[in-house]
Amino acid sequence: MTFLFNSDARRGGVFADAFAKELPDLPFAMDAATVDPNAVRYLITWTVPDNLARYRNLEILFSIGAGVDQFRFDAVPANVRIVRMIEEGIVRMMQEYVTLAVLALHRNLPGYLAQQRAGEWADIAQPQAGARRVGVLGLGQLGQAVLDRLKPFGFPLAGWSRSPRRIEGVTCHHGEPGLNEMLAASDILICLLPLTEETRDFLDTKLFAKLPKGAALVHTGRGPQLDHEALVAALDTGHLSAAMIDVTDPEPLPPRHPFWSHPKIILTPHVASVTQPASAAQAVVENIRRYRAGLDPIGLVDRSRGY
Ligand code: NDP
Ligand code: OXD
Repeated sequence: MTFLFNSDARRGGVFADAFAKELPDLPFAMDAATVDPNAVRYLITWTVPDNLARYRNLEILFSIGAGVDQFRFDAVPANVRIVRMIEEGIVRMMQEYVTLAVLALHRNLPGYLAQQRAGEWADIAQPQAGARRVGVLGLGQLGQAVLDRLKPFGFPLAGWSRSPRRIEGVTCHHGEPGLNEMLAASDILICLLPLTEETRDFLDTKLFAKLPKGAALVHTGRGPQLDHEALVAALDTGHLSAAMIDVTDPEPLPPRHPFWSHPKIILTPHVASVTQPASAAQAVVENIRRYRAGLDPIGLVDRSRGY
């Protein structure tokens, strides 16, 4: 019985140490070439390897990241559980990034950067936090965590999910009518949805039109959820005021793509949150213990929903 680690060696070293200490009975391997494929029960990876079928006794396929959209589910036998990464490092970094983005947009940072480049010294009208409504698409582990971190600033907070949720201090919406209600009341919209067939191309012209004039976007979900041309058009007409974008399609963007130089866009290269090896290794160890005890691993993916 072997745990196979298929990712970068630096993180692998941290995992190897944690496994040696916490699960000494489970052989840990980082080089697939040296492993008996029949012994592999657990595999952690970012993408599904082409030769997955050789691991005939695989029981759990772990994603090294929070998302699983990079996995082709049909390439994974139905009896193999797919488990995404839920660990405190990813959560903390996403809280930092979204707080940074919301405060930057609330305090007109894109406008002040443009003024600095133009040599202008002038105030931009500044609403108080109580008048800046923040809406979050996706109320999973990350959506809820960022809402929690935003609470002390005093923004009116709302969120949207597929199923109904109750979160203290947050107006929760769900379903299509709930979406329209939240969009109409979101001055800063944050996307933290997983990429599925339902959320592909979600951030499009129609959605932007439902936001109040002057609204801003923070996109930290997945690149294919955003229609790039629609965003540029909404910024250029002034319907949207600014955007902070962490994920794009493709990644990286090609040279001369408008996002590189658009004055109303702040672009980061998919770094909002990154799996932290020590806490991630601990989370996987705990999940293997749960699984061995007959419990579902935390982060078990529902293939029918796609996340
Ligand atoms: P979760 O699975 O915990 O939460 C997903 C949320 O989205 C749930 O609230 C779910 O609703 C909601 N949702 C999914 N589909 C729909 C839909 N069709 N309509 C309405 N709501 C929907 O995911 P996480 O919070 O852990 O992560 C979210 C995403 O963030 C990841 O999938 C990944 O793509 C992205 N990410 C980006 C990173 C970056 O660095 N930019 C880093 C880490 C993650 P319900 O509650 O009803 O199930
Ligand atoms: C993730 C990511 O899904 O890095 O963890 O985007």
